[in-house]
Amino acid sequence: MHNSLLTNIILLLSLFYVAVIASPDKLPVALSVRQTSAPIDSECLTYSRTANLSTIGANSTYRSAFLQASNVGTLMNSRMLDAAIQKLPALTRDAALNKACGNLTTIALTEAERNFTMGVVAQFSGLVGNPQSIKAGPELLAIVAAVVLVFGGVWMFMP
Ligand SMILES: *[C@@H]1O[C@H](CO)[C@@H](O)[C@H](O)[C@H]1NC(C)=O
Ligand SMILES: *[C@@H]1O[C@H](CO)[C@@H](O)[C@H](O)[C@H]1NC(C)=O
Ligand SMILES: *[C@@H]1O[C@H](CO)[C@@H](O)[C@H](O)[C@H]1NC(C)=O
Ligand SMILES: *[C@@H]1O[C@H](CO)[C@@H](O)[C@H](O)[C@H]1NC(C)=O
Repeated sequence: MHNSLLTNIILLLSLFYVAVIASPDKLPVALSVRQTSAPIDSECLTYSRTANLSTIGANSTYRSAFLQASNVGTLMNSRMLDAAIQKLPALTRDAALNKACGNLTTIALTEAERNFTMGVVAQFSGLVGNPQSIKAGPELLAIVAAVVLVFGGVWMFMP
């Protein structure tokens, strides 16, 4: 009896946990509700974030750099980027919003490119080049020589 109660509680808690991590969009909703005192600011912030994420999500170069740099799951990030891509066109077309905030779509496009040339994608920096590239410099000669010596030496002096 006691055992099954405990099991039920744990099950319930884990369901809540799953519900929370499975709905990352809950957070921005809660945030924007709290920020209604400054509607324009919060709308511009949403527009800005959506434009930035959409720009990153729509360009395969930025997108893969972002996904590799982020320590959040790829699935969750992909969903977030895709949601931004779907949301942006309506915001870009909204003349009033663009007047109040400036055309943040254009800003995101130019800034993402400028950021990328500096090795920055969104909040991640130091992404110059492919992080998974294979190192190939003159030091390889020494390493290969050492490998040949060790293995060759073992083979030659084998009794
Ligand atoms: C979006 O990018 C612009 C340009 O780099 C930046 O100024 C702005 O803070 C970013 N917006 C958000 C919500 O990070
Ligand atoms: C904002 O800029 C984009 C291109 O960067 C353009 O397609 C869009 O029409 C502009 N929005 C407004 C309201 O001018
Ligand atoms: C993605 O960004 C890179 C670097 O700024 C650029 O060279 C490339 O043309 C962009 N690709 C697309 C599909 O816009
Ligand atoms: C550009 O980089 C800054 C951090 O250096 C970041 O806050 C901003 O969101 C980036 N802009 C875009 C459009 O990715």
